Amino acid sequence: MRYLTAGESHGKQLTTIIEGVPARMPLLKEDINSSLLRRQKGHGRGRRMQIEKDLVEIVGGVRHGVTLGSPISLVIHNDDFKHWEDIMGEDPISENTKIRRVVTRPRPGHADLNGALKYGHRDIRNILERSSARETAARVAAGAVAKTMLKNLGIEISGYVKEIAGIVAKDQVHLTMTDRQQLSEVSPVRVLDKDVEQAMIDAIDQAKQEGDSIGGVCEVYVEGMPAGIGSYVHYDRKLDSKIAGSIVSINAFKGVEFGIGFEAAKLNGSEVHDEIAWSKERGYYRTTNRLGGFEGGMTTGMPIVVRGVMKPIPTLMKRPLESVDIETKQPFKATVERSDACAVPAAAVVMEHVVAFELAKAITDQFTSDQFPKLQEAMDQYREEIRCF
Ligand SMILES: Cc1cc2nc3c(=O)[nH]c(=O)nc-3n(C[C@H](O)[C@H](O)[C@H](O)COP(=O)(O)O)c2cc1C
Repeated sequence: MRYLTAGESHGKQLTTIIEGVPARMPLLKEDINSSLLRRQKGHGRGRRMQIEKDLVEIVGGVRHGVTLGSPISLVIHNDDFKHWEDIMGEDPISENTKIRRVVTRPRPGHADLNGALKYGHRDIRNILERSSARETAARVAAGAVAKTMLKNLGIEISGYVKEIAGIVAKDQVHLTMTDRQQLSEVSPVRVLDKDVEQAMIDAIDQAKQEGDSIGGVCEVYVEGMPAGIGSYVHYDRKLDSKIAGSIVSINAFKGVEFGIGFEAAKLNGSEVHDEIAWSKERGYYRTTNRLGGFEGGMTTGMPIVVRGVMKPIPTLMKRPLESVDIETKQPFKATVERSDACAVPAAAVVMEHVVAFELAKAITDQFTSDQFPKLQEAMDQYREEIRCF
């Protein structure tokens, strides 16, 4: 399975094309729309989220609610494009109009300057329109298809917020998957720990008031992946590395850790590794899950626990960052009229979906995947085989 996305932030539409989804898998647009709506929620998101009401149109690869095995093509229309047609239209415009509208001021913390240098664009809009996190809507659409596949294979996934601006949610190891999914859904900051919810909301409000921004940590939790998915035999087949790469590829994500993660540096080996046990019902399992469900680039069969850190949003309203105009070479302060103060709750949804895609891809790489019912059978058989191994 692989996917491509196309489209600019204020362009006509975002397009996602996914290839390699097995034929004869049930897929409804509601499966994708519910994910898109979840990405738009969250305390601290600004007005753009009210303008965009993301809804998907399935324009290829699905017939009568079932996948065909051909590429799946998804479109998210931008209702606001009518206001941007002059600026973002594909037809040539006069030199005069062009000059009046060029963006020459690169914002620190964005792709603006590096992208302009790389592609030789003197109008920075040509960079910022595509590097914007608006593209994550197209990635959520791809992940929603992957999540539908995982669900039909008995694999559930949940993404939520672990930390905002240094306010850390307690570990909630006792929570079931359903608890995690439901609690995160009703929380305005997508946190499982009620005790810190208000403090997180206050921190976002305060940042907003000060015209500043704050970051945080998201966690994704997966249950139902059997042991042995991924591979140790080559660097580019290690599933933990693919998941890590997909997380760092989300706009503003700066690092990833599995299980106890960076804490492992401070502990002895006896406090880190997960001992092996066996029972007739469960097959092989671990008495702890400190390494977050991975050993040797493969799943251990324990829940996958992965966290990603998001830097604070770089566009600041009242505390603008210094930059240099690429035309005049004069310094300026990167001010904006409006920007979100914190997008960590939305980013947790994005992270859940990019992880889902990597898991679905690893499964289709490993098992027969032309026909979905055969993939289901193959996975059932594999689960039974490894239980008695
Ligand atoms: C869901 C989400 C929403 C975001 N919203 C904004 C925003 O409103 N304003 C902003 O300046 N950056 C926003 N960002 C972050 C920028 O897209 C990001 O800082 C930029 O792409 C550069 O990131 P990088 O340094 O990780 O490449 C958002 C990121 C995500 C994941």
